[in-house]
Amino acid sequence: MELSPVLAHIDADFDAAVARLSDLLRIPSVSTDPAFDQDTRRAADWLVDDLRTMGFNAAARPTIGHPMVVATHDGPPGYDGPRILYYGHYDVQPPDPLDLWESGPFEPVIRPSAYGDGKKIVARGAVDDKGQVMTFLEAFRAWHKVHGGPPVAVTVMLEGEEESGSGSLEPFLRENTADLAADVCVVSDTGMWNIDTPAITYMLRGMVYIEAVLHGPNRDLHSGVYGGNVVNPCNALAEILGKLHDRDGRVRIPGFYKDVRELEKKELKRWGELEFDEAAFMGSIGMKKSFGEKGRSPLERMWSRPTLDINGLYGGYQGKGAKTVIGSHAGAKISCRLVPDQNPDKIRKALVRYLEKHTPPGCRWEFQDHGCNPAIRVPTDSAFLRAAIRALKQVFPREPAVIGCGGSIPAVGSIQRILGYDSLLVGFGLEDDCVHSPNEKFELKCFANGIRAHATMLSEFAALRT
Ligand code: BES
Ligand code: MN
Ligand code: MN
Repeated sequence: MELSPVLAHIDADFDAAVARLSDLLRIPSVSTDPAFDQDTRRAADWLVDDLRTMGFNAAARPTIGHPMVVATHDGPPGYDGPRILYYGHYDVQPPDPLDLWESGPFEPVIRPSAYGDGKKIVARGAVDDKGQVMTFLEAFRAWHKVHGGPPVAVTVMLEGEEESGSGSLEPFLRENTADLAADVCVVSDTGMWNIDTPAITYMLRGMVYIEAVLHGPNRDLHSGVYGGNVVNPCNALAEILGKLHDRDGRVRIPGFYKDVRELEKKELKRWGELEFDEAAFMGSIGMKKSFGEKGRSPLERMWSRPTLDINGLYGGYQGKGAKTVIGSHAGAKISCRLVPDQNPDKIRKALVRYLEKHTPPGCRWEFQDHGCNPAIRVPTDSAFLRAAIRALKQVFPREPAVIGCGGSIPAVGSIQRILGYDSLLVGFGLEDDCVHSPNEKFELKCFANGIRAHATMLSEFAALRT
């Protein structure tokens, strides 16, 4: 089946594709906030309806949380080649802080971009992950319009809880293993190297996230009457957290680095050849130099070194002005990004043990878990990966880069462990897309090239049959 009319159709239909993406972006599917449950459901139904128009057998399957969109297509009549599972997520992060958005987070607008004479679409979820999900759905649509369906067998699985801990994912995979059988999973939820250079991601960091609350006196106190005679949980928490790193930027929790493997020389050399622009990376966030673990390059710190970061702090008086008070408790949201071979449960236990060991006299801790998933690596030499590289070379002016990723996509590890196959991570985001931040955007050039790349990958996957 010929690819060129499919690509021609994609170009002719691009404005309509942008309009469809805008419709999806107008649905505020914030999975973490129950106030948006109906909207999250509506996003799932929207996708089911859309997949049905392309000849897929599609349904929003119930879970204990938000529904899982599952759709299947058996490929051309009599097809007996590989089946590809496409994974993405239709939920988004909360849009806060709202006052920093230049237009409504759920009122998508097209604006001029910083790249040449290009344009971008601005809205929550533009790139993470609705815009990227639509890159493969639009590719399926074009194949359907031109040839009646995709050239390979396809299963689509779209999650509604990726941004809120993926609580239903593993039970769902265990209960639906047969329905989700495939040869490889394709994920579009990562980035490119730059706007002309596509990327295949082969490492994702894992994560342990806990919230730790230190409880002291049984009520908030006058800081003049009690100050100097009582443990202040804010003071104590600040001291404990301040000791989590040493002067070289290393995490001081015993055993934290025990299972961390050093990179092979070859791999480090390849990363060096990527010519990462540290000044540009830091400059875009208003900083001059990178800051972190001593003796490590910025790419190592981002892709292959574990971290510990405080994501939020509270305690005492948080309102406007001053209040002379010793709060009864103080809390910290702490996350560790993990790298291959670190065991998330062991790291969680080591962190909790460290905090407990430093409990001030008369105080107690309360812990709450917000996620625990290991880092993953996927093979860099499969037939599917080579097919994807051949496809990317046809669409982009530069050779694809093979890169790591500082972020996490828990589904990739779950699919590996439960369904038993690997993922191919091909994403079309850029570093300056403001993922999870106000004014999130997706370059229309990346959207268009993402659609073309998926259409071309389908063609290359089909060619693997013989
Ligand atoms: N798409 C991101 C992961 C990502 C971020 C890839 C940046 C490439 C660049 C994903 O939706 C995400 O935000 N993941 C969370 C996972 C967490 C909620 C378990 C993350 O990395 O914080
Ligand atoms: Mn994402
Ligand atoms: Mn995200």
